[in-house]
Amino acid sequence: MSQPHQIDYNHLPEPRANNGAAVKQSVGLSERDFLTLAKVPPLHKVLPPAVMMPESGLVDFSKELGLSYPATMPNLLAGNVKLAAGETCAADAHAGATVMLVLSGGGMLASADESVELRPGDISFLPGNQQIKINAGDSGLSYFYVDDSPLANYLGWQVATTERTVFTHFPAELLKEKLDEYEAAGIDASGVFLSHAGLPGEKLATPHLFAHLNRLMPGARNTIHAHAAPALTYVIHGGNNCFSLLGEPLVNGEIENPARVDWVDGQLSITPPNLWHGHFNNGDEPILSLVIQPAGLYYNDRTMNFLFADKQ
Ligand SMILES: [Fe+2]
Repeated sequence: MSQPHQIDYNHLPEPRANNGAAVKQSVGLSERDFLTLAKVPPLHKVLPPAVMMPESGLVDFSKELGLSYPATMPNLLAGNVKLAAGETCAADAHAGATVMLVLSGGGMLASADESVELRPGDISFLPGNQQIKINAGDSGLSYFYVDDSPLANYLGWQVATTERTVFTHFPAELLKEKLDEYEAAGIDASGVFLSHAGLPGEKLATPHLFAHLNRLMPGARNTIHAHAAPALTYVIHGGNNCFSLLGEPLVNGEIENPARVDWVDGQLSITPPNLWHGHFNNGDEPILSLVIQPAGLYYNDRTMNFLFADKQ
C-alpha cells in the first residue's frame, strides 16, 4: 500500500550542507522537560487580591510574573495617568487596545477621524494602531486605563485596523442614561456591558477585551462564580459595606475559608482565572466598578467556562 508521504526518520539521507541559524534556533524537548517548563504557579499564589491604584503610574507585577515588560497580569496592564493642564500623551500604540476611564478634570481626545471632549465618567476604547492623542484641559486630566500591551508583547503582533477595532466613546451622560434605565427596570445586579457596533456577535469592547460597568444596588450581589478569564476591577464607588470573597475549594456551594477584600474607592481588584469569587453589597449605597477581562480569546475558543457555585 502506498504512503502519502516520504517521511522516514529511520532512513534519512546524508546530512545536508546548509544548516544555518534557523536550524541552530530549533529546540526539541522531551515530554518530561516540557511539563517541567510548563509548571507555573497559579496567579492567586503570585498576585495580591487587590491593590490601591497609584495617583499616577503603573501597577506592574512583571517581576512577580517573570516577564520582561510591564504587566499587571499576563495579558493586561493597568495604570493611572495624571496630566497637568495642557499636557498631552498618547494611547499605547503597541497594545491591541486601551480601555480608558476618565477620573477627574477634562480634555480632548483626538483619533485620526475625530475629536471628543473628555469628562469624568467617560469610557473610551482606544485601538492601539491609530495614533490617539489625549490632551488635558485647563483643570488637568486624570484617567485610569487597562491595555493589553502584555499580550502584544508576548505575541509580537500588532492589531490591524478593521471595523472590529474602532475608536469608541461612551460619554458619562450615555452611561448614566443606561444605568437609570436598568434601575427603573428593577435590575439590581448588572450595570452596563460595554460593546460597540463592530462586534455585534461578541458584544465585547475589542476582539480581546471585555468591559463591564458593574453596578450593585444595596443588598445586591454577584453570587459565587468562576470563569477562565481573569479580571481587573477598578472600584469607582465602593459604598459603605461592599466586599468580595475569593478562594477555593467550594464546599456545599460556599468557598471554604475565603479571602475577604473590602471595596475602597480607587482600588484595583485582581480576580485570578478559575478561582471562585463573588461580590456582595451589604451597604445602603449603590456601588460601581469597571471590570476589564482579556476574555475575547476565551469566548472565541469556547473556553470561558463560566460556573456558578449554586449550580454545582
Ligand atoms: Fe467574576
